[in-house]
Amino acid sequence: MAVLLAGGAGYIGSHTAIEMIEAGMEVVVVDNFYNSDPEAIRRVEEITGRKIALYEADVADKEAMRRVFAEQSIDTVVHFAGMKAVGESVEKPVMYYRNNLDSTLTLLEVMKEYDCNRFIFSSSATVYGEPDSLPLSEAAPKKSVNCPYGWTKWMIEQILTDAVAADDKLSVVLLRYFNPVGAHKSGRIGEDPKGIPNNLFPFIAQVAVGRRDHLNLFGNDYPTPDGTCIRDYIHVVDLAKGHVAAARYAAEHKGCEIINLGTGNGYSVLEMIHAFEEATGIPIPYEIAPRRAGDLPVSYACADKAEKLLGWKAELTLTDMCRDTWNWQSKNPNGYREEEV
Ligand code: NAD
Ligand code: WQD
Repeated sequence: MAVLLAGGAGYIGSHTAIEMIEAGMEVVVVDNFYNSDPEAIRRVEEITGRKIALYEADVADKEAMRRVFAEQSIDTVVHFAGMKAVGESVEKPVMYYRNNLDSTLTLLEVMKEYDCNRFIFSSSATVYGEPDSLPLSEAAPKKSVNCPYGWTKWMIEQILTDAVAADDKLSVVLLRYFNPVGAHKSGRIGEDPKGIPNNLFPFIAQVAVGRRDHLNLFGNDYPTPDGTCIRDYIHVVDLAKGHVAAARYAAEHKGCEIINLGTGNGYSVLEMIHAFEEATGIPIPYEIAPRRAGDLPVSYACADKAEKLLGWKAELTLTDMCRDTWNWQSKNPNGYREEEV
């Protein structure tokens, strides 16, 4: 039996493919390469020494998904296939709702046809909205979120909760990721944003490699010790291992479980810049810029439930996150695009 990684060529999916294969699982990948490159899967094959069944298809294309399920024996689906840029989702809300909701609904419908009952969803800490207390535990209420991207996660969580309530065979794990960073230690795969990076770490990495001359630090007047926002950054390899644990959990339990994937530690933007400089020896010039709309001052996870239910906890350090990001970026200054040059 295999695990279907929908959106498996992307940043988190490609790292998860490696950890699943190394844990003895078989994986099948479906991706339309909207935000990724087939080269990522080629490199996963190179790292693992295993050939991966790869389908180029839109997850919302029901006929294409039926073909995948007909050809492969899939018992678990991990659904990474979403659009994820916060700012773009404000400009193109309909495209975001269409892609993120349709892909989920199609997967649920086709899974039912093929009696596949385990679903792991890539949700986000964004569904917590503005926290009443910290750390953020799964028991905290979902709140109003700040963009259409966040609402798609919010709505998909509701769709999956309702689907489970109506079907005792279903097992769903809603994984709420905090801030994934870093790369596989080989430096062969990593985050490869198209255009100007939206997120902090890819931006820092592109400054370090000389693609951008400085970082704009969005706001240093927040109510935090150094005035910059605090987040729970988690190494993508730890996050990937969380999916291995979640797939095992889903195999043994029914119902719907919400699980944070974070470290439980918060670091400020300035701390991240300094940690990167210290780990790599490369200075990161930055300029203080106005606050970015929608940013919360502080967000970090309570990671206890993941440890209790999944037996998983993050192990890699901030230095690992910085070193591995730089290892990937320095070996691949233009991401996957310069491989043969
Ligand atoms: P990514 O863009 O690198 O990966 C998503 C993959 O899905 C890409 O390969 C893309 O081509 C593919 N895809 C998108 N829509 C598709 C469709 N309709 N059919 C087929 N393939 C499709 O993003 P990522 O960082 O790996 O994130 C994976 C998931 O985790 C996303 O759903 C994202 O919203 C969620 N998430 C990410 C973060 C983060 O900071 N990276 C945080 C919280 C949640
Ligand atoms: C972190 C901090 C910025 C860029 C986002 C989504 C969330 C999830 C993860 C994905 C903030 C500051 C950033 C820059 C900066 N999404 N920053 N200069 O906002 O916590 O979470 O990604 O699918 O839903 O909202 O992460 O990395 O964008 O920002 O100063 O150029 O870095 O203001 O304080 P965020 P981020």
